[in-house]
Amino acid sequence: MSKKYYLTTPIYYPSDNLHIGHTYCTVAADALKKFKTLQGYDVYFTTGSDEHGQKLMQKAHEYGMEPKEYIDHIVDNIKALWKTMDIDYDYFIRSTDEIHEKNVQNIFQKLYDKGEIYKSEYEGYYCTPCESFWTESQLGEGHTCPDCGRETHLAKEEAYFFRLSKYRDKLIELYNEHPEFIVPESRKNEMVKNFLEGGLEDLSVSRSSFKWGVKVPFDDNHIVYVWIDALSCYLTGLGYGWNDEQFNEYWPADVHLVGKEIMRFHTIIWPAILMALDMPLPKQVFGHGWILFDNDKMSKSKGNVVYPEPIIKLYGVDALKYFLLREFSFGSDGSFTKEKFMARLNSDLANDLGNLVSRTVSMIIKYNDGVIEKTDAKTEFDDGLIELATSIRAKVEKAMETYQFSDALEAIWTLVRRGNKYVDETTPWILAKDKAKKDELNNVLYNLAESLRIVSILISPFLTNTAKEIRRQLGIEGEIKLEDASEFGLLASGAKVTKGDVIFPRLDIQEEIKKLDAENKALADKREKDLEEWIAKAGGKKPEAKKIEEAKEDEAAPITIDDFGKVKIKVALVESVEDHPNADRLYVLNLKLGDERRVIVSNIKSHYTKEELTGKKILVITNLEPKKFRGVESHGMLMAAQTEDGKLSLATVMEDIPDGAVVN
Ligand code: MSP
Repeated sequence: MSKKYYLTTPIYYPSDNLHIGHTYCTVAADALKKFKTLQGYDVYFTTGSDEHGQKLMQKAHEYGMEPKEYIDHIVDNIKALWKTMDIDYDYFIRSTDEIHEKNVQNIFQKLYDKGEIYKSEYEGYYCTPCESFWTESQLGEGHTCPDCGRETHLAKEEAYFFRLSKYRDKLIELYNEHPEFIVPESRKNEMVKNFLEGGLEDLSVSRSSFKWGVKVPFDDNHIVYVWIDALSCYLTGLGYGWNDEQFNEYWPADVHLVGKEIMRFHTIIWPAILMALDMPLPKQVFGHGWILFDNDKMSKSKGNVVYPEPIIKLYGVDALKYFLLREFSFGSDGSFTKEKFMARLNSDLANDLGNLVSRTVSMIIKYNDGVIEKTDAKTEFDDGLIELATSIRAKVEKAMETYQFSDALEAIWTLVRRGNKYVDETTPWILAKDKAKKDELNNVLYNLAESLRIVSILISPFLTNTAKEIRRQLGIEGEIKLEDASEFGLLASGAKVTKGDVIFPRLDIQEEIKKLDAENKALADKREKDLEEWIAKAGGKKPEAKKIEEAKEDEAAPITIDDFGKVKIKVALVESVEDHPNADRLYVLNLKLGDERRVIVSNIKSHYTKEELTGKKILVITNLEPKKFRGVESHGMLMAAQTEDGKLSLATVMEDIPDGAVVN
């Protein structure tokens, strides 16, 4: 029975469509799966989407939608992308799947029952985009998030805590006893130095300030911290709680491939949770580097996003996969530029591989009617070629042991380049002029085809379509087997080649960059349109469009005086204004309405200074249900007019009228 191998990528935030940086890990995982399968492993590979948390909730609400409605659209795009990219995952786990949620609750309950989780109060610096709490000592300059560099805010809430602190020594022991647990080694040093050396604090593992998450099973006011929910996908995606047989066959994971910024979650929190659950630990966590875009992290807000789809449309999926895996060393950061991409295509794919395939097939057609013929008429260059060709498999296997995709491909390309050199050395076009050299010529052509057969096996996990096409053109039938890559001479004599299209044409770099930019822009526009349609279908609206539409609707559909009478509006005196303790863009207004005092939280901070507001009489709606904004309860809403470009102007009264006066 073949050995089981469990491999994961992170589950992605479906807040936006994925860019090529996102595809990096999944492309690597897919190649690893295909390679391990070729080696005879029985591989299970999970990926998925991480759908809970404040950020996604806020985004959906901005569009007037429920989070799930919004997310469904993005998840569909992600799945379609993986299909286009021929990503061979076995299970796509969505953190909103019922079976997942139920099992997250079970996990949380188990930890609670074992005394690993307890209730207390949390105060810390919270980074909303990263959904992470930080201690003061971990923050960057100006209280910024050490991961993304954005500003954090002080947040305080009642929470459940996981006893992470008690696992510090056990984690150090794990790293020492299993030095292979964290790779590359430098990441281990980072974890020890940045997190473990100073001691670990218990981890807040529930939230009560918003609702979009998995409910804590024994406390309705809390949801499970999104990272506990997300990490559990590695279990539930495999069958934990719904297919125990499969789960037990594959768990523990052989490797979690993750980006370097989320190593902390995977090498500290995750093993500690598993220890607390008395479960076997993953064998390895690999932290890969980032693909930078002109030395910056790619992101929509920076406007430097390159989507994978236009690249695939213009150059094929193999070109993108080849570039990502060959250009960058998996553990380190690398910079993506379109020039580098095109240059790599021209040199490695068009000049080296494409050229070798097309000249080999053309020569076999031209000099031997398309028939591959094995002969004994050796040339002095054969041994060198054969020795190299049969040595590549071992090099590729070795590189793949440590996820060095780039080294593996480079090893294969030494054979590709050697093949081209062999053509130049043996000069078949000269041999073809001499009838007496026919056998020698056929031997040369056979050796070229045979080298390409070996190349086709070794590239198949990385450039699956290209491997198939090479085999089609060379008339090779049957299943691809790794062991066939270390033997020379397996190609049957008499096979017929078929001329195909050039597998990788040479590109005019500047022309292609223009084309790619145009495709990228067209896709971004289409995405925007699709999203708007999706939002409209769900009954939501994009923020700007929404206000104008609403105003029109108000005019179009009159309400009765009774309807209006339900809304209570009063004059309020602004006594004082404070900054919201947990939200940079909000004010907390202390208002006096006659004898009554109330607090209203408002987003007018970017429109008025505190001085401009203090002492003013404004209009407020007083009978709205109270609502908490980042921990501060707001009792009512200010009335303001809004221009199309988003400027707010507060509604007020013309004469000096006592506060508390009713407006009707
Ligand atoms: N949802 C979490 C993961 C939870 S796993 C239990 C998350 N999601 S993410 O969508 O932000 O990132 C998913 C993966 O994409 C991460 O491994 C991240 O490092 C990777 N990348 C995002 N941008 C990237 C680049 N520009 N380059 C390389 N990888 C990058 O984190």
